[in-house]
Amino acid sequence: LRALPKDGKLFTFEFNPHHANVAKESFKKAGFENQVEIFVGPALDNLAQIEKEGPFDLVFIDADKVSYSHYLEWAADHLRIGGVVLGDNTFAFGMIADADPRDADKRNSVKALQAFNRDIVSSGRFRATILPTGEGLTMGVKLR
Ligand SMILES: C[S@@+](CC[C@H](N)C(=O)[O-])C[C@H]1O[C@@H](n2cnc3c(N)ncnc32)[C@H](O)[C@@H]1O
Repeated sequence: LRALPKDGKLFTFEFNPHHANVAKESFKKAGFENQVEIFVGPALDNLAQIEKEGPFDLVFIDADKVSYSHYLEWAADHLRIGGVVLGDNTFAFGMIADADPRDADKRNSVKALQAFNRDIVSSGRFRATILPTGEGLTMGVKLR
């Protein structure tokens, strides 16, 4: 946020109203309430509301893992060329290389994160890598 230019804007999407309120208070305390807009509800339902504000410089994906590839597709269509997409947790809780993840609770999320990492490369629209943070952070620069 502190790197935003004075006329820059952050749009954020949160499903849980309590989490959204915590974020709202934090943005306010940090003095950024005028540069942040929070949409409450499923991100996939609300993203269309900001499309006219694009193209965007950065898209940070950190919500429901099963929707990561949908968010990636949205980012590919709404980032500027040279814009950056970041996807958090892309080591998939340590199971990113497991062909058959045995953790039943996380299986769908792991499969979705594996698909996300494949899709960002196979789309041909990004130059991408995974940065080795503790949880894995996929970074892609939009080429076309
Ligand atoms: C890992 S937390 C995000 C943390 C945040 N990026 C931060 O750094 O403080 C994931 C959040 O995604 C939210 N979430 C889950 N499914 C969502 C959806 N379909 N649309 C929007 N938000 C969702 C959860 O309520 C949760 O607050």
